[in-house]
Amino acid sequence: MKVLMVCLGNICRSPLAQGILESLTHDQGLSWEVDSAGTSAWHIGNAPDGRSIKIAKHYGIDISTQTARQFTTKDFHDYDLILAMDQSNYNNILKISPDQSMNGKVKMIMNYVDPGMNEAVPDPYYDDGFDNVYQMLHKACQALIKTV
Ligand code: 4NP
Repeated sequence: MKVLMVCLGNICRSPLAQGILESLTHDQGLSWEVDSAGTSAWHIGNAPDGRSIKIAKHYGIDISTQTARQFTTKDFHDYDLILAMDQSNYNNILKISPDQSMNGKVKMIMNYVDPGMNEAVPDPYYDDGFDNVYQMLHKACQALIKTV
């Protein structure tokens, strides 16, 4: 299974989501391929936000070596699942879909916890919701593994 986590900057939420899913799948002996990207170009090449690195480390996960990249049309071909953190990410992803037949690969990540609710993982960049974001993503990744 190839999974791509997508947020706006690829420095706060999606790097955490990547690290959590890599850790859970590794622990369960699953050889999934996981990556993350941002819909914006703002932070290309940057390491994750220090606050995301810190919260991941607190839970035993090292995300410090990740580097931000921008989501591209090619990702529709390269991944089985493309998981958006919020509605804005979801809309921006679909804007560059190469073909309607690919659109089903795109899902709101929290729908694995509460199907159909389209709950957002709140953007923690301007506040301090990093522990909450970690907990939400951990739940979602556990549910995703059970579903697939
Ligand atoms: P992310 O958070 O989408 O979870 O990586 C953000 C990071 C940076 C910005 C916004 C959100 N920014 O405005 O630069």
